Amino acid sequence: MKILVTGGTGYIGSHTVVELLNSGFKVIVLDNLSNSNIEVLNGIESITGVRPEFHQVDITDKISLKKVFEYNGDISSVIHFAALKAVGESVIDPMLYYRNNILGFINLLDVMIGSNVLNIVFSSSCTVYGQAEELPVTELSPVKEAESPYGYTKQCGERFLNDLSAATKLKSIALRYFNPIGAHDSALIGELPIGVPNNLVPYITQTAAGEREILTVNGNDYPTPDGTNIRDYIHVVDIAKAHVIAVQRLIDNATVENPEIFNLGTGRGNSVMEIINVFEKVTERKLNYKIGPRRAGDVISIYSDTKKANEILGWRAERDLENMLLTAWNWQKRISNVKN
Ligand code: NAD
Ligand code: WQD
Repeated sequence: MKILVTGGTGYIGSHTVVELLNSGFKVIVLDNLSNSNIEVLNGIESITGVRPEFHQVDITDKISLKKVFEYNGDISSVIHFAALKAVGESVIDPMLYYRNNILGFINLLDVMIGSNVLNIVFSSSCTVYGQAEELPVTELSPVKEAESPYGYTKQCGERFLNDLSAATKLKSIALRYFNPIGAHDSALIGELPIGVPNNLVPYITQTAAGEREILTVNGNDYPTPDGTNIRDYIHVVDIAKAHVIAVQRLIDNATVENPEIFNLGTGRGNSVMEIINVFEKVTERKLNYKIGPRRAGDVISIYSDTKKANEILGWRAERDLENMLLTAWNWQKRISNVKN
């Protein structure tokens, strides 16, 4: 079975390509390399022994996108990761996000339906919930008005799937990731943020590697046990494995809703200070950090109810926080050339 993975050289995409190849799928990777590097394919090849077919294509370029589908007449399904994902950047330049994430997705859906490729797994996000009134959040928790243009592009994506499921033969699964962190055990692929990281864990690992001077904890006066924000951190390999199950489910025609929506988290919440403490413990290093002001737009706490994915997909997150932070650190050590 041939799967087209858009954004397949990116962080979650590359780990998913590895799991797909390890499960015997044929994979075509499509990426414009705006937030990733072609060398990721070397990592994938070293891990799996297979170098997937690659197309450097921008999904906003519909003609080139169509050519990939024409060249590969037997694509069974698409896993769609390609998107921009920086919340702050989306507030500064909403049009960039509308064009890339919304127009790009419309092109993809249009080309897929025109080519009779009717299975899609879509990368959605816990950001669609905003600050939920009740925790943990289930897939039935209300989707709040988006707090950023980025969040809005994810809500639009889910809406497109919903509308198209009624009007066409498209079948879809939307996976709402919580906070993916960690890296492959081999340390051959991992997260490669360009510039100053926005996210907590790459900031921590870069600080520990000496690439950043100090981590600022964004506020410790929240109404949580230690005053810092709570999130549901999940290992990227666990996320990747859920995609293999989801795409197989579409191929098997086993979906019972359209789109089917699943939370992908561990079901546990951890505070920023807990992340720092576990990082220090597993790496046996002191992290340079200070307490700073709150960051605009941060929700206080969010974590998932994973019952639906556990019961219907038969999937559950297997890796603990220690493993998430250790693999993230091993990857950072390799790319920053840290000796021990
Ligand atoms: P990433 O930036 O590492 O990967 C995205 C990939 O898509 C990159 O390789 C980039 O070059 C490519 N891309 C972007 N725009 C493109 C375009 N127009 N045409 C072709 N390729 C394009 O990000 P990631 O963390 O792997 O995220 C993957 C998906 O998961 C995204 O849709 C993101 O919104 C979603 N998501 C991520 C997180 C997270 O915290 N990482 C959480 C929830 C949802
Ligand atoms: C986690 C916690 C920060 C950096 C983002 C997106 C969300 C989804 C997942 C895509 C927060 C704190 C961070 C730092 C800190 N992505 N922090 N110092 O904001 O939960 O979610 O990624 O869909 O849409 O918003 O993740 O890693 O940025 O922050 O104290 O230098 O770490 O304030 O409490 P977030 P994050």
